[in-house]
Amino acid sequence: MAPRGGFSNRLGFIAAAAGSAVGLGNIWGFPFEVGQGGGGIFVLIYLFFCFTLCLPVMLTEVAIGRRTNKNAVGAFTALGYKRWNFIGKLGVLSGVLILSFYNLIAGWSFGYIFEMATANFNISEGFNSFTSDLLKVGSYALIFMLMTSLVVSKGISGGIEKIAKILMPTLILMILGVVIYSLTLPHSMEGLKFYLLPDLSEIKFSTIYNAMGQAFFSLSLGMGALITYGSYVGKNENLVSSVTFITLADVGIAVLAGLMIFPLVGFLTEGSMSGVNSGPELIFVTLPKIFGTIGGVTGAIVGTFFFILLCFAALTSTVSLMEVPVSYTVDEWGISRKKAVVISAIVVFLVGIPSMLGHGFSCFFTEFAQFGDSEKPLNFLGVIMGIANDTFLPLGGFLIMIFASHIWKKENLDQEIMMGAPKYESSLLRKYMHLSTSYIIPIVLFSIFVTTVINTFF
Ligand code: PHE
Repeated sequence: MAPRGGFSNRLGFIAAAAGSAVGLGNIWGFPFEVGQGGGGIFVLIYLFFCFTLCLPVMLTEVAIGRRTNKNAVGAFTALGYKRWNFIGKLGVLSGVLILSFYNLIAGWSFGYIFEMATANFNISEGFNSFTSDLLKVGSYALIFMLMTSLVVSKGISGGIEKIAKILMPTLILMILGVVIYSLTLPHSMEGLKFYLLPDLSEIKFSTIYNAMGQAFFSLSLGMGALITYGSYVGKNENLVSSVTFITLADVGIAVLAGLMIFPLVGFLTEGSMSGVNSGPELIFVTLPKIFGTIGGVTGAIVGTFFFILLCFAALTSTVSLMEVPVSYTVDEWGISRKKAVVISAIVVFLVGIPSMLGHGFSCFFTEFAQFGDSEKPLNFLGVIMGIANDTFLPLGGFLIMIFASHIWKKENLDQEIMMGAPKYESSLLRKYMHLSTSYIIPIVLFSIFVTTVINTFF
């Protein structure tokens, strides 16, 4: 066991890291981003980014974490490059920003457990009044934050691991069930076509940018969450196979979530697919309607169970998001884990309030800003997603890659990855890692970043 506590075994790390990756990003975020990004073309670009850019970033993050046994900030100092620990600090900031809105959506999912349990399938029509009911939504978000805090304060192997191991497989089975059901509905094929057949004319710059942001967000990259989790992994673990498994699991579940949602949209819109680009409300509007068509008690049971599992998937992600600021403050400021949790929870909750107000309650935060090629004004949550998910995470990924290949040097990275993965030495992946960490990934990320800044502001 690593000195600061570690995962009890390999499965523990994989389950926790996959638990971090699989969450609202897959089931809530991916379908609506696909809807807004024009369908199949977004999926294609997203898949391409996950395997060519994100997998090497993930391997690098976990390797840095394991080598140093430190949090996202301390890791850079421990390698002897204190000046580079600003990358970790950027990660802590991203973690706080992401958790601030993530916790809100998790709160909605939590609230939906009760709506489904009381067979209130009409919530689809009343979704706006649901999200603008501040007392309700605020309390759900608060409860969710308390649950996250409780798990994180228990420490790494006590809390995170146990939850992840049981619930992930159940969630997959449940989604599979809904996929099968949705494919039997009329007009489901129109939905499937929208989802799976890329339409090149739909491609916009924002499609590429959002697909990249979504890939980083969904795989929990670019903010040191996986440096932090990597710090709890034993030296004899095979990082290459773990990281490959985590990527496949995460991408697989996102793809499944799309297979679940788009046939449903096809059915609900009788094939016209109108409203598919409606944004963050997509699953909260389509799913209850479908559970409603199952009807009565069965629909209520399926719906309730679905949102319970979604909440657990969200919880294993919120836990990893909070672990970043918490392990940073525990290690670097020398405060107790409990205190660190309380401080982080309060800060995150406060930062999340404008996102909460920006769903109908306050006009100012609901129509907060308009950028680039977007057609309608973004609410506060949309702006934070643009900054944190689509900008800070890829920027963090870029900096981590520059650091690992040019400052820390790729020989050291190599050596760390090779520990526990002897076959890596002569593998094709190693050759690709050399090329991609030093040149391909930094150049691609940097050009997308610069073009976006120009597109947005000029
Ligand atoms: N990957 C998580 C999800 O898809 C969200 C997340 C992002 C978690 C960044 C940790 C770090 O829901």
